[in-house]
Amino acid sequence: MNAVELARAIPKAELHIHIEGSLEPELIFALAQRNGVQLAYPGVEALRAAYAFTDLQSFLDIYYAGASVLLTEQDFHDMAWAYFQRAKADNVIHAELFFDPQTHTARGVDTGVVIRGLASARERAQSELGISSALILCFLRHLSEEDAFATLEAALPYREHFIGVGLDSSEVGHPPEKFARVFARCRELGLHVVAHAGEEGPPEYMWQAIDLLKVQRIDHGVAALQDPLLMAELAHTRLPLTVCPLSNLKLCVVDDLRDHPLKKMLDAGLCVTINSDDPAYFGGYMNENWAQTVQALQMDRDDVVAIARNSFEASFISDQRRAECL
Ligand code: HPA
Ligand code: ZN
Repeated sequence: MNAVELARAIPKAELHIHIEGSLEPELIFALAQRNGVQLAYPGVEALRAAYAFTDLQSFLDIYYAGASVLLTEQDFHDMAWAYFQRAKADNVIHAELFFDPQTHTARGVDTGVVIRGLASARERAQSELGISSALILCFLRHLSEEDAFATLEAALPYREHFIGVGLDSSEVGHPPEKFARVFARCRELGLHVVAHAGEEGPPEYMWQAIDLLKVQRIDHGVAALQDPLLMAELAHTRLPLTVCPLSNLKLCVVDDLRDHPLKKMLDAGLCVTINSDDPAYFGGYMNENWAQTVQALQMDRDDVVAIARNSFEASFISDQRRAECL
């Protein structure tokens, strides 16, 4: 088995997947029809043709439009169940799913509808596919910290259904420090904390995520390579980075997968993982990310094993389950 074949076959954890980013155009149109929602595109092909992104914001505009078809518990269940089936095919045995309550509450969808729909799909994935999973609630960073506090409050009745919080959406201009107080509250509540940083933003945002939000993982973090001190810190602490190579390519963070910094980060001793981010929009689920990255960066079988091990080291699974997975 060569390195690419091993990358496809090896059991792995996915730690950076926005569940709304797994919504395929076919399902978007099926749900639009089911719910009587009008879309700005005439059909699946026209929508897919619009997936030519120039940066993060150009993607987010379409991603939020796509999510507008999600109204009922069943919709959230169907979306997550479709993801879990794709994950199974890629030998994902554990997944930690981001969801964006504010994208839905802004349209009048109750937080409970979102969480119950996702929770029932998680249970089904465990029982029918043997995939363990967890939910991480993300705050939209282009909105205010006050809004984030209200989102947290609305989700607390469902506290047993999510293990942590994250920070996503438009990065530049919305530094982690904007959310220092709400993250402090989340830590007090015993929630795990992660944040997107260093995707389009500078290394300074990664430092803020570490020092002010006290994150346990950084999502993306590819800007680390611009800052030798930060690289040394990440190598020393093994603070994990959930890297998403095809996302970085599609959002023009890198021009060519062969220029992606992942291999340099791995060689520097960082705890890097490979993830799909928004697979319906970026051209591939886990194995497409793994195979293309391994190929483009000419990584070997040892690299593949190291990245798979990192995915479990970086996950929030119990020590018992981690021991089973490693
Ligand atoms: N970055 C920031 N916010 C997001 C992303 C991303 O890659 N995907 C969905 N929300
Ligand atoms: Zn992301």
